[in-house]
Amino acid sequence: MNFLFQILAAIALLVVVAEASPTYVGVKRMTNADRMKRGLGPAPPVFKRVVPGRRSNLPTRAFVAKRGSPSPSAVPPAPTKHIGRIEVRNTTGFTYGFVQNTVSGPSGVTLNSTIDPLAVSFSTSQGSSGPFDITATNATFSAPLTLGGVGNASLAADSASAVVFNSTAATSPSAAFVSGATGESAIWTLDGRTAQISANWINADKSKPTTFIGLDTVNNVILLTGNITLYNQAASSPLTEVKFFLASPPFQ
Ligand SMILES: *[C@@H]1O[C@H](CO)[C@@H](O)[C@H](O)[C@H]1NC(C)=O
Ligand SMILES: *[C@@H]1O[C@H](CO)[C@@H](O)[C@H](O)[C@H]1NC(C)=O
Ligand SMILES: *[C@@H]1O[C@H](CO)[C@@H](O)[C@H](O)[C@H]1NC(C)=O
Ligand SMILES: *[C@@H]1O[C@H](CO)[C@@H](O)[C@H](O)[C@H]1NC(C)=O
Ligand SMILES: *[C@@H]1O[C@H](CO)[C@@H](O)[C@H](O)[C@H]1NC(C)=O
Ligand SMILES: *[C@@H]1O[C@H](CO)[C@@H](O)[C@H](O)[C@H]1NC(C)=O
Repeated sequence: MNFLFQILAAIALLVVVAEASPTYVGVKRMTNADRMKRGLGPAPPVFKRVVPGRRSNLPTRAFVAKRGSPSPSAVPPAPTKHIGRIEVRNTTGFTYGFVQNTVSGPSGVTLNSTIDPLAVSFSTSQGSSGPFDITATNATFSAPLTLGGVGNASLAADSASAVVFNSTAATSPSAAFVSGATGESAIWTLDGRTAQISANWINADKSKPTTFIGLDTVNNVILLTGNITLYNQAASSPLTEVKFFLASPPFQ
């Protein structure tokens, strides 16, 4: 019996403690209808008080349950920044090294230890693979620092034409080639699962050819083309089809 009394007393104390709150509680309990009856105006809005040491700024369980999940934010989620090097592999996975960093530009790979790799960065927005610009972050070549295709050729599956992978002034994502421009930069997309970075050239007539990346291993130059077989039939030094992958730090 005494034990039960202690429990009841404890519960009563808990209720008192739980109810003990800042002075506005009494006013808050009065509905606006009650206030009208008493000749008072509508209650002023009540703001949560945060007393140091109290957890009063946390939502109540009922509030959390009712809301379920946070309401969609008006602010778009922050883009994800990616940094690293661009690894260059042939179609069966053999790696030629990384996109190079030389005073004459990035168009080539680190075939040997005397050629430095280029550090790059780019951003993707949530749920989007691109297109985006790739920016050189420690270039020994001069600006522009965005990487893309240089040239005004129209690429196609039935054409030997090509553009050079090099640094080029930033262009608008998803925009067709602008007449008179040096090249196109915002042509890159990322496969978030494999880390493959693909090129997506857009011709002046807005056509979007499947874009292949080719490495001329003789001259150590990287090109973009719509058909490597046709390019090789016309060219003196052939291209080997390669793929770009983001290689993330740390590097050994
Ligand atoms: C990729 O390069 C490796 C090493 O040189 C070679 O054995 C392989 O056949 C190449 N793959 C293709 C598709 O050329
Ligand atoms: C890349 O661009 C630089 C600067 O315009 C130029 O000097 C270099 O020859 C270009 N590389 C290729 C492979 O065209
Ligand atoms: C490294 O490759 C570059 C470009 O192909 C070449 O010019 C240079 O002679 C090579 N260096 C060595 C040590 O093989
Ligand atoms: C540029 O960054 C790459 C990747 O981190 C690094 O390996 C390379 O040494 C750097 N080159 C220069 C010139 O800072
Ligand atoms: C490239 O052109 C050749 C010859 O016309 C054709 O057989 C081949 O399918 C083309 N390749 C692509 C990827 O379109
Ligand atoms: C393409 O570029 C070449 C050389 O820079 C130039 O002579 C030609 O007028 C350009 N063509 C177009 C359609 O912009």
